Amino acid sequence: MTEEKFTFQAEVSKLLDIVAHSLYSHKEIFLRELVSNASDACDRLRYEALTKPELAAGGALQIVIEVDKKARTLAVIDNGIGMSREELAENLGTIARSGTSAFVHELAAANADNDKKKSKGDDVALIGQFGVGFYSAFMVADTVEVVSRRAGSDAAWKWTSDGKGEFTLAEAERGANGTTVTLFVSKKEAEYLEEARIRTIVKTYSDHVGLPILLRLDGKEETLNAGAALWTRPAKEITPEQYTEFYHHVGHMFDEPWKVLHNRIEGVLSYTNLLFIPSAPPFDLFDPDRKPRLKLYVKRVFITDDCEALLPSYLRFVRGIVDSEDLSLNISREMLQNDPKLAKIRSGLVKRILGELKKASEKDAEGYATFWDNFGAVLKEGLYEDFSSRDSLVPLCRFRSIAGDGLISLDAYVEAMKEGQQAIYYITGEDAEVLRRSPQLEGFRARGLDVLLLTDPIDEFWLPNLGSHKDKPFKSVTRGAADLDAIPRSDAEAEKDKAADAETPGIDQLVAALKMALGGAVKDVRTSDRLTDSPVCLVAAEGDVDIRLERMLRQARRMGGEEAIARILEINPGHALIKALAGKVESTGAAGADAVKDAAFLLLDQARILEGEPVADPVAFATRLTAVMEKGV
Ligand SMILES: Nc1ncnc2c1ncn2[C@@H]1O[C@H](COP(=O)(O)OP(=O)(O)OP(=O)(O)O)[C@@H](O)[C@H]1O
Ligand SMILES: [Mg+2]
Repeated sequence: MTEEKFTFQAEVSKLLDIVAHSLYSHKEIFLRELVSNASDACDRLRYEALTKPELAAGGALQIVIEVDKKARTLAVIDNGIGMSREELAENLGTIARSGTSAFVHELAAANADNDKKKSKGDDVALIGQFGVGFYSAFMVADTVEVVSRRAGSDAAWKWTSDGKGEFTLAEAERGANGTTVTLFVSKKEAEYLEEARIRTIVKTYSDHVGLPILLRLDGKEETLNAGAALWTRPAKEITPEQYTEFYHHVGHMFDEPWKVLHNRIEGVLSYTNLLFIPSAPPFDLFDPDRKPRLKLYVKRVFITDDCEALLPSYLRFVRGIVDSEDLSLNISREMLQNDPKLAKIRSGLVKRILGELKKASEKDAEGYATFWDNFGAVLKEGLYEDFSSRDSLVPLCRFRSIAGDGLISLDAYVEAMKEGQQAIYYITGEDAEVLRRSPQLEGFRARGLDVLLLTDPIDEFWLPNLGSHKDKPFKSVTRGAADLDAIPRSDAEAEKDKAADAETPGIDQLVAALKMALGGAVKDVRTSDRLTDSPVCLVAAEGDVDIRLERMLRQARRMGGEEAIARILEINPGHALIKALAGKVESTGAAGADAVKDAAFLLLDQARILEGEPVADPVAFATRLTAVMEKGV
């Protein structure tokens, strides 16, 4: 019999190295992974047998765990779909999942760098999400042997490896289709050959599997699990631990689910849903494909976990399964996407999930705040993607604002609006704490006006789309005129100042001089009612995009190389520096523009820096700053 040698893909070798050296706790999960693969293989056989009934000739699907203590082997045997020679090499020699290679690099780097070393728990959680799956067998085995025969073929193949960089493939014998994974258990892991240990592991991690799992040991055979898919059992017979295990299994998650939604819907269209809302964000939440990860079953037969029609993208953080009797088993995965029944199920699921969130938002502010921090940015995508659910989504949204540290809803904002306030004010940027210090907010704070701090890129998209809430338009505090005159400042002292500001001598000449000095570098220069403490700030003209949005669009390459949009420079007539400059311009007359030229550009650069923008000309900036400092010293 000829044997051929292969080397693992580089990522697999790295992964095996990490698996072998850093996961000394939780080794028992290897059995869960192998059982889960066996169960997946049976699911796939069932699905293929829908169109090729001859494949189902192998009899009832089941998983057997066979232990031979003398030989120190543990085998997981299934009669599922099996693998061809090519599939063995591909599936057990490379990492197919896209994110996994990146993860391996990250983990390898973290392990090399002791300071950044993650705790073991984190490693396990990550590995679960990325699906080290089969390779976890090498945590307990010196050698792993896989004999497999693809359903519909007579040829069987044997894959063997000690997990150290190479594997071999050779012809083999197998009576029927399916796969046998045999672990030659290493001496120090002998506990995994003990009946009691295996029984506990299966009960803990694999009880939800919808197939019988048999243990064959010392000539005895017994069934270890309930053998009915978890979602088919009555909710009151299911323990929280069982739900959690199932969630870990279907969701590739390792946290405790925040919410479990297990329902049976009877009617024109009947289905069961077992859905989970995670308590921690999955790693792929912001993957560009934005795919929902629900698994679809039809009459207990697994159909697909890649069904975009089942749940909208903005609910992609939800994990779990849907099983319906009323979808056709003969329909192809592609046609399924357009099935009107599926659309009905989808809208039922959306209602159910949003209803649950509403309940939580009203009854459990703290839990909901955590949910919001995890998934709010994703949920907000629904505001412009799903008009039919908008009315349910808006009340679910929460925001940080300058009034406090907590989260508020739009309703609460509108309720707290001040006399004379016409708009819902907001400011956008990357970081709430940086935003809180923006000079543009000074005038709002002085008037006791609240401003929403919007820090998710998605905010730039739904805001213009939603436009207003309860007839109050959204208004950016960094765009257009602030129009704050109508609203009195809350401190009497400030009111006095303000009256005086209007009369700052030379202020009009200063504005004119600044305009002349700056030329095309700004769109306009004007006095501001937005500022109380800072001398200047930049704002966008009414019809222009906000400064931060412009930056974001350029980063995302949605805006090309055209010239940067000129902004409006607002000056604070009450500020000592501005007053001094105004006095200077007034006294110098026609030469005013020249007298303040350096100051003009320094003020503009300062305003740009506050916006997180680079200064236009660093050399000129440094020269001017030096000159001014020289005079000041
Ligand atoms: N018992 C089996 N029968 C058929 N194919 C299998 C079996 N075990 C593994 N495979 C194949 O090997 C691949 C790799 O398995 P592995 O457990 O590493 O990843 P996965 O199952 O795809 O992902 P995860 O385990 O994270 O869900 C599987 O996708 C499957 O194609
Ligand atoms: Mg697997």
